[in-house]
Amino acid sequence: MVRCSRRILLTSTAALYIHIPYCVTICSYCDFDRQAHGFELIPRYLEAVEQEIGQQPRAELHSVFFGGGTPSLLEPRQVARVLEVVARHFALAAEAETTLEANPDDLTEDQVRGFRTAGVNRLSLGVQSFHDPTLRLLRRRHSSARAEAAVRAAQAAGMANLSLDLMYGLPGLGLARWRHTLERALVLEPDHLSCYLLTLEPSVPMARWVEQGRVSLPRDEAIARQYELARTLLAERGFEHYELSNWARPGRASRHNLTYWRDEPYLGVGAGAASSWQGQRYKNTPHVQTYLRTALAGQPERVEWEQTPAQTRMQDYLALGLRLREGVDPARFEARFGRQLSEVLGAELEVLIAGGPLEWHAGRLRVAEASLLVTNEILARLQAAVANGAPRLLA
Ligand SMILES: C[S@@+](CC[C@H](N)C(=O)[O-])C[C@H]1O[C@@H](n2cnc3c(N)ncnc32)[C@H](O)[C@@H]1O
Ligand code: SF4
Repeated sequence: MVRCSRRILLTSTAALYIHIPYCVTICSYCDFDRQAHGFELIPRYLEAVEQEIGQQPRAELHSVFFGGGTPSLLEPRQVARVLEVVARHFALAAEAETTLEANPDDLTEDQVRGFRTAGVNRLSLGVQSFHDPTLRLLRRRHSSARAEAAVRAAQAAGMANLSLDLMYGLPGLGLARWRHTLERALVLEPDHLSCYLLTLEPSVPMARWVEQGRVSLPRDEAIARQYELARTLLAERGFEHYELSNWARPGRASRHNLTYWRDEPYLGVGAGAASSWQGQRYKNTPHVQTYLRTALAGQPERVEWEQTPAQTRMQDYLALGLRLREGVDPARFEARFGRQLSEVLGAELEVLIAGGPLEWHAGRLRVAEASLLVTNEILARLQAAVANGAPRLLA
């Protein structure tokens, strides 16, 4: 970013996130902003989204992402209309990545062809597992055979950039079953794989089942072995591990998600969508009815709006950047915050490097491979170091 007198000139491009909060049923582990009712209001919802797009700052976009919820519930003509509004309002970069999250449930070749014609060039499919009893426990609507059929349909429709979501650390998921899921995913030759460790918010049904002893989660060592297996297997098959939970064939890393991890600007539209724009962060109300009412009246209700303090921005920058295998560039940190990374982190940086969890690689700071699974613990220590150091530094 270059400051020019009182105007701020943006030299970087931005990402646009569009939230579609509808799902046919709710999965047992899911805490996202989504609902399984009110489908008759989808056309009104899209009107609100289109109106909100028209109010966004005019930026050049390097990516558009339909996330959910279940964006594949939309008809291709609805996606096409939203993308027309996007194209009229924003400048789209030549190679802009346009992703749509899809559930395998009812996905057909025709539908994917329609999404492609609408402008979608990347599909992210929520497969989760290739073990049918596990899929039932997750309350997914699809079977493993259906997931395979959905991938084949997407490929037959010419979707050149395909990503699959898988989950590990699931109840009853031993190493052999996890290997089976990874192998079956690899046979389908995706371009990108996300492997997410199950996290349970207390409000979701599966958290209650664990509490009641109806299901049990794998132990930490078993989870570590599952993660290790994913890393080994995917590396052997030519995938680059570019983020804690994400692997891509060369050149296929998610440009959209890199925007978040690199703390670049993004705009979000729809219920619950977050934006980070010119140092401000804000989030639309996740409540769909409130969103509809306020957005259609001219301005969606926003639940968080902050001029984020420098200390929080530094903490977030590290928390996001250290998820990436490329790590954090100290020169970029200094350009952004006017402080040296080593000065902000103080002695803690030396301790974590000497002890092994952090390392310098190609001039950037990153989590050492052997410590990836304890990234959250490392981040907590760095957050504390910033909190201790920042007031002194910023005084
Ligand atoms: C935004 S969700 C929605 C995608 C789509 N609706 C679906 O479920 O197929 C994207 C991914 O997040 C992951 N996910 C959702 N809830 C999770 C949880 N509690 N723990 C770990 N991963 C989760 C799943 O892999 C899911 O595919
Ligand atoms: S995991 Fe996906 S399909 Fe399931 S409830 Fe959440 S958003 Fe909907």
